Amino acid sequence: MTDTKKSIHGEWSSRSAFILAATGSAVGLGNIWKFPYITGEHGGGAFVIVYLLCVALIGIPIMIAETLLGRRGRENPVNTMQLLSAEAEQDPRWQYVGWVGMAAGLLILSYYSVIAGWASAYVFKAFTGSFFNADAAAIKQLFSDFIGSPLQLIFWHTLFMAATLFIVARGVDKGLEKSVRILMPGLFILLILLVMYAMTTSGYFQGIHFLFSFDFSKLTGNAILIAMGQAFFSLGLGMGCVMAYGAYLPNDISIAKTSIIIAAVDTLVALLAGIIIFPIVFTYQLNPGSGPGLIFETLPIAFGTMTGGWLFGVLFFIILVFAALSSAIALIEPTVSWLVENRGISRQRASLQAGGIAWLIGLATVFSFNAWAAFKPFGLTLFDLIDYVTANLMLPLGGLAIAIFVGWKMKQQHSAQELNIVDPEYFKLWLMLTKYLAPAAVFLVFLHVVGVL
Ligand code: TRP
Repeated sequence: MTDTKKSIHGEWSSRSAFILAATGSAVGLGNIWKFPYITGEHGGGAFVIVYLLCVALIGIPIMIAETLLGRRGRENPVNTMQLLSAEAEQDPRWQYVGWVGMAAGLLILSYYSVIAGWASAYVFKAFTGSFFNADAAAIKQLFSDFIGSPLQLIFWHTLFMAATLFIVARGVDKGLEKSVRILMPGLFILLILLVMYAMTTSGYFQGIHFLFSFDFSKLTGNAILIAMGQAFFSLGLGMGCVMAYGAYLPNDISIAKTSIIIAAVDTLVALLAGIIIFPIVFTYQLNPGSGPGLIFETLPIAFGTMTGGWLFGVLFFIILVFAALSSAIALIEPTVSWLVENRGISRQRASLQAGGIAWLIGLATVFSFNAWAAFKPFGLTLFDLIDYVTANLMLPLGGLAIAIFVGWKMKQQHSAQELNIVDPEYFKLWLMLTKYLAPAAVFLVFLHVVGVL
């Protein structure tokens, strides 16, 4: 915890490297696959507004808090929380934040890899011309045939997990940093091109209307919880990922500024994805609430009919896979760094062990779409259940704990030192949000969902 302490895994080579890597972990399936489908399921506009409020008022302050913990501790999330609770003379049980986070990371990775596997399969389908001139019904059929086949899903899930582990095993500077440098700009360019396509469709205004006009009567307590969970998920908060990445952050970089940039880019990508997908949904009279298959049932129609659609289709799914890869490596990093630092095993072995567990749990998601589709404890498939518990319960709880620790338990001079904010007014604003607003908001949403409010 001295100023000179460095992580044993190395450091980001520059501010832009950190921003790229952190944006790489934030921008992923959560933005392009999940945001549109849950927005569709919850009626659009009002859900989007709640989501944006959650990002601004809860997400950004907690992202700043989580990064500063990581940089001050400079170790894996468990050790970091141990060290910092000792420094703040607090209960060592704060380290459970790190434990719960590692568990959430592996659980999320388990299904993340399956869905990223779908995207990988779609690279192949786009390449072989499966979308060419196909109508909406044919595209839907293609998707349901695909997810109906456990063997195919397992094949792509395995391939994606193997790719993730390969990158993670190579370490922070060689593996993580290089893989995002080219991808983020590429993703951005492609999204802009697709937005331009969406503007030419007949359902454009209806899509925009759906996304941005708010009818608050459709908003239920559960929808608010899901919007909040999505803010945590999309920013990658509440499970020690940001903490693990913060541990590799050089001391002279402004945490507040970088957090705001990352959150802004992440939100922009999600909105762009929505602006692309909903016009297609309405142009072809599809159901916006059709669930996790939404992007796989809509985008291929566009690729199959637009000029240059073959190329755009191939590129889009390739970039989606890479965006998912740069998030998957972040999901596993807390566990891998814990295994390396505390169990003394090599990075390679650690990746294999952590990834093996996530791969195995991932089979539950694979079968949720076919063999076990009818098995619904609490009315949800196993995939929906894992997603619900992690995104809507574990991440917000982790975030709540982080906000309470940084806002109430840590010495203010220490957080001020890490943030090094020149303007004391900004520091005060952040502290107020972290101390009062963010914890209260998370708490109120929980109370609302369990029916107390
Ligand atoms: N944010 C990523 C996405 O939107 C997924 C992700 C990466 C994540 N790291 C995380 C989610 C940590 C929760 C916690 O796809």
